[in-house]
Amino acid sequence: MTDKKNIEDAVFKTRFARHYEELKSIYSRFYGEESPYFDELCGQMEKWASERSEDLKKLDREREASPDWYKDQNLLGMMMYTEQFADNLKGVKEHLDYVESCGVNYLHLMPLFDSPEGRSDGGYAVADFRKVRPDLGTMEDLSDLAAECRKRGISLCLDFVMNHTSEDHEWAKKARALDPEYMNRYFFYDSYDIPREFEKTVPQVFPTTAPGNFTWLPEIQKYVMTTFYPYQWDLNYANPVVFNEMVNNIMYLANNGIDVFRIDAVPYIWKQLGTDCRNLPEVHDLVRMIRMLCEIVCPGVILLGEVVMEPIKVVPYFGSVEKPECHMLYNVTTMCTTWHTVATRDVRLLRRQLDTISTLPREYMFLNYLRCHDDIGWGLDYDFLRNFGIQEVPHKKYLNDFFTGNIPYSFAEGELYNSDPRLGDARLCGTTASLCGIEYASYRCEKDMLNKAIGFDLMLHAFMLTQSGLPIIYSGDEVCRLNDYTYKNDPNKAEDSRYLHRGKFLWNDAADRENQDTVAGRFFSVLKKLEDVRKTEELFASDAQMWTIDTWDDAILGIVKEKNGKKLIALFNFSEYDKTAWIDEGFVPYVNLMDGEKIVPRGVNLPAYGFMWLKGC
Ligand code: GLC
Repeated sequence: MTDKKNIEDAVFKTRFARHYEELKSIYSRFYGEESPYFDELCGQMEKWASERSEDLKKLDREREASPDWYKDQNLLGMMMYTEQFADNLKGVKEHLDYVESCGVNYLHLMPLFDSPEGRSDGGYAVADFRKVRPDLGTMEDLSDLAAECRKRGISLCLDFVMNHTSEDHEWAKKARALDPEYMNRYFFYDSYDIPREFEKTVPQVFPTTAPGNFTWLPEIQKYVMTTFYPYQWDLNYANPVVFNEMVNNIMYLANNGIDVFRIDAVPYIWKQLGTDCRNLPEVHDLVRMIRMLCEIVCPGVILLGEVVMEPIKVVPYFGSVEKPECHMLYNVTTMCTTWHTVATRDVRLLRRQLDTISTLPREYMFLNYLRCHDDIGWGLDYDFLRNFGIQEVPHKKYLNDFFTGNIPYSFAEGELYNSDPRLGDARLCGTTASLCGIEYASYRCEKDMLNKAIGFDLMLHAFMLTQSGLPIIYSGDEVCRLNDYTYKNDPNKAEDSRYLHRGKFLWNDAADRENQDTVAGRFFSVLKKLEDVRKTEELFASDAQMWTIDTWDDAILGIVKEKNGKKLIALFNFSEYDKTAWIDEGFVPYVNLMDGEKIVPRGVNLPAYGFMWLKGC
């Protein structure tokens, strides 16, 4: 026993020694050379490391030995709301067979910690980082679920909402009672003088549903900084207690078996007057410290950064080879550019985006997705689009009109989100199936149209699975979940159209996935085949080289992937017409990976919204 303890101490010390100098120097820059909080933090980390269970320590060792484990092409993700999928955490545990039947081995559960009803922003206003929302279960249920996932080889991802707490958090309550120690954990102002200065340079996240970045608290006659909703109070990371306590919360959850932390809204965590309060250098230092602390205490744990920004702002969150920050980041620009391509049937911008991504080091791991719990924001490369005479404001209007069915030929059934008439801006909500026309065609019983819409949805998923990185399916998409309009009847949700695509999972649809006469069944079987091919063909590995090719038709996207002398040509027809991709790869036939047919890759015909994965023999 003593031997084992000595070895573990030695392991901890080695990990600690590896990062000590850098950690100490960054911490000192934030909180002073002789900060007692640094020693306190070190002591706390030692405690968390020693309290980690045998199971988790084993996982740490395995993952330390193969640090690229999360880049394995075998990984397939799904994100879901616990309550919508299976009522509570026990329900999720009971339905893990379903999750596995979808080929999923990475599960992201949306925020599930205690959060006041009606003031929760879908759980992103956390009142207690160590207490599960009572209707979803208990901490014990969470660690049980995590243990079961671990047994099945499923990695569990949770949000870590670090920019703010709920106004119901214990700290916020004490701050509201004017306890200075707790007020210092947030940003309080007696008058509007400083907030006014901030407002000159800080943009608004929710211009319609929560305008402004400050909230007036009449009972204490003070303003508090609230970048998101008024009930989400921004934390002050200039205070070492905030940093230490939030890191302790991460470690607490890591020791309960969480594998992946999605660090929510991370670009916002450092505030500086006179700036836009986004992506400031201090943010990177804070993330770097968290990365080091995880490597010291729980090296099996990885960080997923939620950076919903343009590529030039996203990539720095990977850090450098010597000083990495996040392990994974969302491929948000590719996601919104895909939807732009759906509406325009013009792949030129998407090609440019993919070519930009493929010039990045292969080590960078992106998380690819079509839809998630949030809206689609039109963060496109407008400088490039201007070459074609496309201007930002009218183009956003076109996209929003298209996706809300306000254009005669549109089949999409989306809704606007946070429409800002000042800037001519609005974002968009809706499920993949509804945006692809499955809802429109089903309700009108238009059979041909429905076939095309299912094909479109499949093509988009095939495209997502072709990209390098970790693909994430939005729960329900695998069985073509349509929009859910019932949120409009709930006063707590009616204002927030993101609930349109946060509906209850329909278990009837799930049962239909076995039935080829249903939409769910037709979709699911092909999606499953796509996933299986992706998991087994080495050309889908994240380190395969990738570039786009000209198909001589702006509606058809052509991607080439290459690894170990093998080649894949992937073609995607974004138009409603049957088309020919005018590629010429010689006379040697390629294999269509979906049906095994041989095809000579010269002038390849694709049906409307069709796709093809062709592998060189
Ligand atoms: C993230 C979440 C979003 C939430 C916001 C505030 O962007 O994805 O749903 O509203 O953070 O926490």
